[in-house]
Amino acid sequence: MANIFIPLEKHMANARFITLDGIDGSGKTTQLEVIKQWFATRNLPVLFTREPGGTPLGESLRKLLLAPDTEVSLRSETLMMFAARCQHLEQVILPALQSGTHVVSDRFTDATFAYQGGGRGLPEKDISVLEQWVQQGLQPDLTLILDVPLEVSCERISGSRIKDRFEQEDTPFFRRVRNAYLQRAASRPERCKVVNSNRDKALVKADIEAHLNRLFQAA
Ligand code: TMP
Repeated sequence: MANIFIPLEKHMANARFITLDGIDGSGKTTQLEVIKQWFATRNLPVLFTREPGGTPLGESLRKLLLAPDTEVSLRSETLMMFAARCQHLEQVILPALQSGTHVVSDRFTDATFAYQGGGRGLPEKDISVLEQWVQQGLQPDLTLILDVPLEVSCERISGSRIKDRFEQEDTPFFRRVRNAYLQRAASRPERCKVVNSNRDKALVKADIEAHLNRLFQAA
C-alpha cells in the first residue's frame, strides 16, 4: 500500500477528527449514539470507527489483544496497539478525512497513554516515540473523555458477559488508568474535554452536543 502520509493540515480543510475515550464502563456505547444522532440531524458525512480495530488487520489484532488467554508483554501489547492504529490511519482515517468525511473513533492514542502508560507503567516517552512515528503530528481535533467514579466503572464491567483481558484487571489498575486520562485532559484543555458521564443522560447528552457545536462553529 502506498504511503499516504501527508501533514494533516494539508488535506484536512474541513473534515474533523473526533475521538471518544475513557475507562471501561464509562458509557462510550451510549454516548456514541448521541454523537451519531448529532451528525445524522445535520446530515454531515461521517465515519464511525474504533480502536483497536477499524480494519481487517486491526480487528484481528483486537481479537488477540482482548482475548483473556493471550500472553503478551507490555511492549508487544503497545506495538500491537500502534500496528492496528497505523493501519487504521493509512487505510481508513486519513482517506476519509482527505475526502471530506468527518471521523469519529471509539478510542485512539489517549487510550495507549492511559492503559499501557498509566495502567501498566510504560514510560510516557516510549509511547510518545511511537505516537510521533505513526501519527507524524496528527492529533484529533476534539477528544471527549468520559469519566465515571471507579465504583461505577467496576460495577458496569462486573455486570457484563465474560470479561476481556483488560476488564479482568483489578481496581488499582483502573484507578491509574482513570488518573492518566484526567491528567492528560488537564494538560491538554484545548483538545481534551472531560465529560462527567455519571449523571442524568440528558445532561451528559447536552454536554457532548455543546462540545460538538463548539468544534463545528470554530470550523
Ligand atoms: P473497548 O473498545 O470495548 O473499549 O475495548 C478496548 C480495550 O482496549 C479497552 O479495555 C482499552 C484497551 N486499549 C488499550 O489498552 N490501549 C489502546 O491503545 C486502546 C485503543 C485500547
